[in-house]
Amino acid sequence: MTGDFEPSGIEKLDSALGGGFPKGGVSLIVGPTGIGKTLLALQWLAEGARRGQNVVYISTTVPIERIKKYYGESKFLRDVVDKIKWYNMDVEPKEMIPFTESKQKKLFHSVMPDIIDEDMMPKIKIHRGVIDSITSFDKIIGDKALFRYVSSQFIKYFNRVGISAMLIEESDLGQITSGGEMRNFAEATIVMDYIESKNMYMRALKIMKRYGVNHPTYWMPFHITDEGFEL
Ligand SMILES: Nc1ncnc2c1ncn2[C@@H]1O[C@H](COP(=O)(O)OP(=O)(O)OP(=O)(O)O)[C@@H](O)[C@H]1O
Ligand SMILES: [Mg+2]
Repeated sequence: MTGDFEPSGIEKLDSALGGGFPKGGVSLIVGPTGIGKTLLALQWLAEGARRGQNVVYISTTVPIERIKKYYGESKFLRDVVDKIKWYNMDVEPKEMIPFTESKQKKLFHSVMPDIIDEDMMPKIKIHRGVIDSITSFDKIIGDKALFRYVSSQFIKYFNRVGISAMLIEESDLGQITSGGEMRNFAEATIVMDYIESKNMYMRALKIMKRYGVNHPTYWMPFHITDEGFEL
């Protein structure tokens, strides 16, 4: 079964996921600001890069230079920071509304011209890809039904070309038990939140689903260190 997973290298998490995140499928990470979504995504990409895979990080919010500045020196990232393919994606409303296949093609090619051709075909095998975050599309589009449609088109694309994708969705504090707007499109969904324990708040994550795996459903507290996630 080893071929079916794209592990994060965070042992406890991978084992709770039955080996790792779904290979060739889409995972969704949902949580409030500052909880650790970007960090988890970067750690997952770093693990792929360390295994010699082609991995892609797309930021729709914070400029890549800033992301690299904050995380690039961390122990979990610094050995592979130059192996990750980094992209900014700044989308204007007119590039998404109305949403058509040709707009999707243009978008992907313009963001990643070196690895995605004008027909949206990858020029190299892309093993892992992260979009941080799809909430930006939600805000640009401003319509839940259309947002779901656009996201589902992205997901179909990732499935078609065999990219293991991780989509990040921002949630408001205390609103995540629903698992996010895109929860039913993903094969694995992880929610993160601050949980109260002994009058303190701690970071915790919960696997809401992982198709094909009998996973735990309890909150797993974690810490963030220079080495990344510590469960
Ligand atoms: N080396 C470190 N040691 C301890 N904590 C760290 C370290 N690096 C980052 N952090 C913590 O991780 C938090 C940021 O996590 P991250 O950027 O992944 O959040 P996020 O969920 O992506 O938030 P947002 O929705 O705002 O993008 C920081 O606020 C900081 O508290
Ligand atoms: Mg983030």
